This record gives sequence, structure tokens and C-alpha cells, in this order.
Amino acid sequence: PVFMSKAREFATAAAPASATLEKQKLIVFDTTLRDGEQSPGVTLTTEEKIEIAKQLSRLGVDVCEAGFPIASPGDFEAVQKIAKEVGPIIGNRKSGKPMRIAGLARAVQPDIARCFEAVKHAPLHRIHTFLATSDIHLKYKLKISRAECIQRAKAAVAFAKSIGCHDIEFSTEDAGRSDRVFLTEVLAEVIAAGATTLNIPDTVGYNVPEEYGAMIKYLAQNTEGADKVVWSTHCHNDLGLATANSLSGIVNGARQVECTINGIGERAGNTSLEEVIMTLHTHSKYYPVYHDIDTTQIYMTSQLVTKKSGMVIQPNKAIVGANAFAHESGIHQDGVLKHKETYEIIQPQTIGLPSNSLVLGKLSGRNAFRQRIDQILGTNSMYAEKLSANPQAFELLFASFKKLADVKKGGLNEQDLYAL
Ligand code: KIV
Ligand code: ZN
Repeated sequence: PVFMSKAREFATAAAPASATLEKQKLIVFDTTLRDGEQSPGVTLTTEEKIEIAKQLSRLGVDVCEAGFPIASPGDFEAVQKIAKEVGPIIGNRKSGKPMRIAGLARAVQPDIARCFEAVKHAPLHRIHTFLATSDIHLKYKLKISRAECIQRAKAAVAFAKSIGCHDIEFSTEDAGRSDRVFLTEVLAEVIAAGATTLNIPDTVGYNVPEEYGAMIKYLAQNTEGADKVVWSTHCHNDLGLATANSLSGIVNGARQVECTINGIGERAGNTSLEEVIMTLHTHSKYYPVYHDIDTTQIYMTSQLVTKKSGMVIQPNKAIVGANAFAHESGIHQDGVLKHKETYEIIQPQTIGLPSNSLVLGKLSGRNAFRQRIDQILGTNSMYAEKLSANPQAFELLFASFKKLADVKKGGLNEQDLYAL
């Protein structure tokens, strides 16, 4: 209830302010090829990664995290090839700049050096280094003190800078469960050492939108040197809140969002790129940002990642699920046939899908049934002649359709209609 009342407050109070403010660029950082590949069971070959990276570039992604170069020779090779082959492409990108290629590295010198070896071939490149900051990670995983954590973080960024990298991202792993005052101490040190982007991960998907947004705001207001860097969100979806948390981060000052196509990633996945972008598209007046994503490439990118990763999208997944633009109930079908906006908040063409689909099932009405029959059998066919000669024939056909739809799971396909 508290969140709902805050949300209403936001909807009424924040909208006009954001609508009148000059919009700032939102950097879209895609980690499909790194965090996305960490999904259980997903392994991509170098060729598949290159193909996906090319499509991400077409989509207009600003930063592509291509992998974790120290993790394996294969990952190193993939990141390096992407840096060389995809890094220079500009094509029709709205930004007019090529995609920046990033690699992940733990906060230790061998990782950072290996990462730089892989990404440096791209005209725009980035080292993304990280260290956990929550007490639970420091005590049980790293077995180090807070003071040592600060030392390691600072040294990692300073080393990345010393080898010639000028675009350095630092992530405070498990920030969502870290002490905020301690975070400001770590972050101030890494800014002084040369970090240019500060990423605040909710690694275990623990936060709720108010909490995550408040954390971004607090850090951006209380960290020394905060105005010299870009603040970034990185949310996981364990409570199904990754998209809401990322948007809350944006409202509270983040200007980079980290996400994956179809929301793939460890456990319940990461923030889904298509959900964030289409929310910004649909509700632009609430958000003080613009982006350079070509939304008409979303569906194609989603299909490519599905095929290459083998991770099937749930049919009711927002934006890209098979049912996202499908209507089955008679009332809804009748509505969209009369006017699309009755039950569609996004035109399917906006994401590159040629049309919506009216699924014929037991809840479908006459209007949709007739439209599909006309489409399938043609208005100039033997069946069409029969139907126009005898209006009762249509009613008989519709009655048989309802009987069949009652017993057939998954809706009726074209063969069923021919059979009828
Ligand atoms: O979820 C996480 O904390 C990460 C970091 C490595 C950025 O993926
Ligand atoms: Zn992550």
C-alpha cells in the first residue's frame, strides 16, 4: 500500500516536472553476452556471439558487455573478435557512434590486463571491474575487511587506468544489501582513482523500487566526486522487480541501465532491455531521459537471442512473448478489430512485429472468426460463395467452431479451420 500511494504520488507529481526538464541521454548497456550467458544451460559459440553482437549494434545498444575474458580462452577470443569485427561498425545507428565494447574483470590485475587485451581493439572500449561490498560477501565469500575492500577497489581501478584504459566502470557487487555509508566510501575512492561509470548492482534481486531508487539518489548525493561519473543500474529479477527497480533508478539519477535481451541471466534473470525501452517509449513524460535504441529491431533481436541461447521465452512475457500481441477473448478481438487502441498500448510494428494476432479459441467471437475464415479461405473461394449464398451456413460453421474450440487445447490452427 505504501508503494502504491507513492506510485500515485509519482504519477501525478513527477510527470509534469520530467516532461518539462531537458532530457538527458540514457546509456543502454547490454550484458546479454556476459550476464545473459550466465543463465544455466546457455553457452554461445564465438560465431553466435558475433552474430548477436552485430544485431545489438543494429538495435542501437551503446555498450555491449561481450564477455568475461579471463574466464576461458573461448570467452577471450569472442570478446576480442567482437572488439575487432563489431566494434568499428556504425551503420544506421541513431547515435552516429559505434558500440562501445566492454569486458568484465574481477578487481585483480590478471583479470584486468586480460580484459584490456581483448577489448582494446574496439575504437570505443571499456574495462568493467567489480568487487563485492556487502558484509555478507566480505565475511563469507571474500573473507576480507571493509578496509581491505576499499584498498582492493581503488587499486583495481588505478591499475586499469595505468595500462591505458580511459573508460573504466566499477561495480559494487551486492550493493542492494550493502551499507550505504560504506558504499559512499568505496565509491569516492574509485572515482578518485579514475572510474568513469559507477554501477550499483542489486545482484540478488532483493530490492524493491522505492528502496533501490532511494539508494541511487543517496549515493549520487553523498559520494564525493559524484558529478564526475555516470551512475548505472544493474538489477536482477528474483522478485520480478528488475524492470521496476531500474526505472526507479533512472528517475533518481541513473543515466546508464544494464539489461539483457529477453531478460535472460542468472537465476530469474536480469532487467529486460525491451521492457525498459518500451516503458520509456510508452511513458516518456515520466522519465527525464532519451535513448538511441531503434525499437523496430527489438523483435528480431529477441528472436535471434532465443534461437541462439535455446532459452524459450514464456508466452506471456511482456513485449516479446508469443502472446504479447495476441487476443483470444471475443470481447477483446471485437474491440481491436474496431480500434486497435481498445486493447493494445503498443503497436506491434513499433517493435518490428508485422501485426497482432487474433487467436481463435473458445472465447473468440463471430467478428474475429469471420475475419480469419476470410483470410484463410479467401473471399473468392467455393466456401466464400457458399457462405454468402446461405447466411445460415456461417452460423452452422460458427457453432461447429465453438464445439471444437471447447475441447481443443492451445487454440485452433489453420488445419482445424479447413477441416471445419
Ligand atoms: O549482478 C552483479 O552483481 C553482476 C556484477 C558482476 C556487475 O553481474
Ligand atoms: Zn548481474
